[in-house]
Amino acid sequence: MKPSTKTDYSAGTRLFHACLALAVLSQLVSSQFMQVPREGRPGNWVFEVHEYSGLFAMTMALGLWIVVITRIGGTDMGLLLPWFSAARRAAFWADTKRHWKIARTFRLPTYRQDSPFAAAIHGLGLLLITAMAATGTLYWLAGVAGYQDRLAVSLAIDLHGFMANLVWAYLIGHAGMALIHHFTGGQTLRVMWSTSPPTSVKEPSK
Ligand code: HEM
Ligand code: HEM
Repeated sequence: MKPSTKTDYSAGTRLFHACLALAVLSQLVSSQFMQVPREGRPGNWVFEVHEYSGLFAMTMALGLWIVVITRIGGTDMGLLLPWFSAARRAAFWADTKRHWKIARTFRLPTYRQDSPFAAAIHGLGLLLITAMAATGTLYWLAGVAGYQDRLAVSLAIDLHGFMANLVWAYLIGHAGMALIHHFTGGQTLRVMWSTSPPTSVKEPSK
């Protein structure tokens, strides 16, 4: 099967998605080399990179939510967050079972842009990244206001550390699936990473 070159995600979706993905990547890399200021020991410059690109990630996550909520085309909001509707939840579980059945035979499910399972995972991923950026931002704001020693702030930063493992898992799983679909003809990476304006379905060049 020839890969599709459909680019029907809006420019706003693609711009905020790309900025958020690059910011999260920089967060994960910087977290490996940063020295957190603790007990009189100062933080290093990598920690500053982590803080400022984290604040940028927070802005991009809010931007992507605004685009998702206000856009006319693109993935339906109810597919990204199916948890509040019985019919949506039923469609999610049916599609999850379909994926599980195929995975048990070591095959890849056929790519579907409107897959309730994939869309719900994307929605959970976006919620996770938003929570990650929000707990970091809370910690930073508390530092500016001089409240960093409050219990709520230390709980927030503990949660930040715990969710870090989930962010690694999401990024590896999500980017891995995107690459697998790209190379097996399901969906090209262009659909989300193209810089050209959105088009209707383009015929692949011969
Ligand atoms: C942690 C950073 C990332 C987050 C939070 C994220 C989030 C999302 C979300 C929420 C969607 C669904 C958008 C929608 O339906 O409107 C999506 C789709 C997509 N993402 Fe990401 N993404 C990230 C990183 C990446 C990376 C690194 C790649 C490429 C290697 C990638 C490739 C794609 C592709 C190709 C789609 C379209 C999937 C489809 O049509 O089914 N993403 N992403
Ligand atoms: C999506 C955005 C973010 C991601 C993916 C992220 C990722 C991470 C990761 C992977 C760690 C290491 C956790 C560990 O190994 O225990 C970490 C720690 C930390 N991050 Fe973030 N971060 C984000 C946003 C922020 C923001 C906005 C701030 C503050 C401005 C921040 C401040 C911190 C601090 C202070 C730590 C050290 C926590 C500790 O060890 O006590 N992060 N972050």
